[in-house]
Amino acid sequence: MKARIEEMMAHVAAVELATPDAVEAFRIEYVGRKGKMKDLMAAFKDVPGEDKRELGPMLNALKQAVEGKIKEASQGSKVQVQASGNDATRPAGGIPKGTHHPLQVVRREIVGIFQNMGFAVAEGPEIEDDWHVFSGLNFPPEHPARDMQDTFFVARNPDLLLRTHTSSVQVREMERREPPMRLIMPGRVFRNEAISARAHCMFHQIEGLYIDKGVSFADLKQTLLHFARCFFGAETRIRLRPSYFPFTEPSAEVDVYWGLETEVDKRITKGTGWLEILGCGMVDPNVLRDNGIDPEVYSGFAFGMGIERITMLRYQIGDLRLFFENDLRFLGQFEGER
Ligand code: PHE
Repeated sequence: MKARIEEMMAHVAAVELATPDAVEAFRIEYVGRKGKMKDLMAAFKDVPGEDKRELGPMLNALKQAVEGKIKEASQGSKVQVQASGNDATRPAGGIPKGTHHPLQVVRREIVGIFQNMGFAVAEGPEIEDDWHVFSGLNFPPEHPARDMQDTFFVARNPDLLLRTHTSSVQVREMERREPPMRLIMPGRVFRNEAISARAHCMFHQIEGLYIDKGVSFADLKQTLLHFARCFFGAETRIRLRPSYFPFTEPSAEVDVYWGLETEVDKRITKGTGWLEILGCGMVDPNVLRDNGIDPEVYSGFAFGMGIERITMLRYQIGDLRLFFENDLRFLGQFEGER
């Protein structure tokens, strides 16, 4: 019996358990239900008393050696498999999720509100010609917006420029459609401005256009009130202030009532409680005529708003440059918005 224990001791010390299968086979061989340790313990019972003193500690040592071997080998093999990256049974890690850009969140929401009112989405090119950005919209030849100071021209060509507003899409759509038309037109626009917390050379607008028989200023006002209440809340109030755009007559700027409760309210509304959100008006008869629509038969309204401005109001963002810096600490805060 002594010789058997010594032989097994030597085997346990020398055996190499490189794979999980080898560990399991070893475990069954020694400590399984019909394993070698069971046999030894059974045999030990019949050993004469004086031999037990010598063999008892040897058996214990063997048992510990076997258990130690199994423990060491199973830990070692796990580490090895994980390090090689080939453990197909390992639970998958989470896949990092992106977030929607706040400008996209707001654009989608605004467009959705108008789609619910029956407006269809239209888009146009960012590189435009003079006709679609200015002339077709009743801009006089000497209008300052045509100046190099305000407009980016492409390759010094006076007839190739980056659109300064999405109103160019109005002209394109009037060209290709017959009234009635009810369109919502999101897009990117460009102006030659110094970049600051409040201005950028590239930003986004959403343009609206509705042309049909008998469209009135009351329709414009009610459409915009409905929009403001969907977007800013059911109790929202708006006001219209007279304004000027070459392509609308009469023209107005729309303010929403923001409130005057906090210091921030006072600051962003300049003490008035009102915030400007968009420009609008009745499509100028000259524009209809120039684009092949009879102003004696049809009338329409148009409006345009800046997505950055509205996004800044919605999320209380103080610096417009944050939208374009791709800082994940900023963008990650819009998780869950859609
Ligand atoms: N295009 C104007 C701007 O960029 C906004 C506007 C659109 C005004 C449509 C009236 C009608 O400021």
